[in-house]
Amino acid sequence: MKKRSLVSINDFTKEEQLSILELAESFEKNPTRKILENHVVATLFFEPSTRTRLSFESAVSRLGGKVIGFTDASSSSVSKGESLRDTIKTVCSYSDLIVMRHPREGSARFASEVSSVPIINAGDGANQHPTQTLLDLYTIKQTQGKLDNLHIAFVGDLKYGRTVHSLVMALCNFNCTFHLVSPLELKLPSSVKIHIKEKNLVYHQYTSIEEIIGSVDILYMTRIQKERFSDPMEYEKIKNAYILRNAMLENTKENLKILHPLPRVNEINEDVDDNHKAYYFEQALNGVYVRQALLARILGVV
Ligand code: CP
Repeated sequence: MKKRSLVSINDFTKEEQLSILELAESFEKNPTRKILENHVVATLFFEPSTRTRLSFESAVSRLGGKVIGFTDASSSSVSKGESLRDTIKTVCSYSDLIVMRHPREGSARFASEVSSVPIINAGDGANQHPTQTLLDLYTIKQTQGKLDNLHIAFVGDLKYGRTVHSLVMALCNFNCTFHLVSPLELKLPSSVKIHIKEKNLVYHQYTSIEEIIGSVDILYMTRIQKERFSDPMEYEKIKNAYILRNAMLENTKENLKILHPLPRVNEINEDVDDNHKAYYFEQALNGVYVRQALLARILGVV
């Protein structure tokens, strides 16, 4: 993995992904080590973020490295018309690795082709979010004791939800069964379903949570991605399609865990937060350990 970019989750093999999860366990036990002294990581966020940016920055800081970057393209020379190519070609001479989030699908791949340092895709439009996937895999393994043969439900915006796309692709390596719950307008794209079919795995599609909530191991809730809709009226029509409430968790499996990449809007009622099956804040914390492991591997310090 040394010096390699992570743009699509499939850029790393199943074995490489598992080795990052294993290393992340050691960072969970001991997150503060000065192994990135003399390293500079750039975080270029052309789209808003709380967890991804701050967990990357926390990961670098706890490992003794330095962070440079911007949280808003309007504070960079992009606002003067600078191209992504020129921005990347400049920042790669100031840093050892670039973490980038951008609203355009394919932007991270493009950046990796013009950069002399590795690019980590922190989300490119509605395409993929591979580091979220690594922390999701870590969290699923942590809560279920395994990754294989699980029944996983994805609920909400499966069309635009980039975390769903990359996680489905990764779970195709683990013989999981997929339960896809969405409004008809927001079904999982065929470009992602093809990965399930290629592995001869099974998926079922539903429009209501109640149809599957009693039989799954993981309920992966997602936000309807308002920012991806070209017609605001379309968003208004389906923005309240799913609201998970605590009462709905009666008669669910004892091992069920509710995950959500966050941020949430209203798709998980706050009365769920105190249920022992809610695990989304622990999931967000895992982002630090997994990103520490990923940075350490790509920068070649472990
Ligand atoms: N999960 C996630 O990507 O959250 P942020 O948008 O806050 O980074």
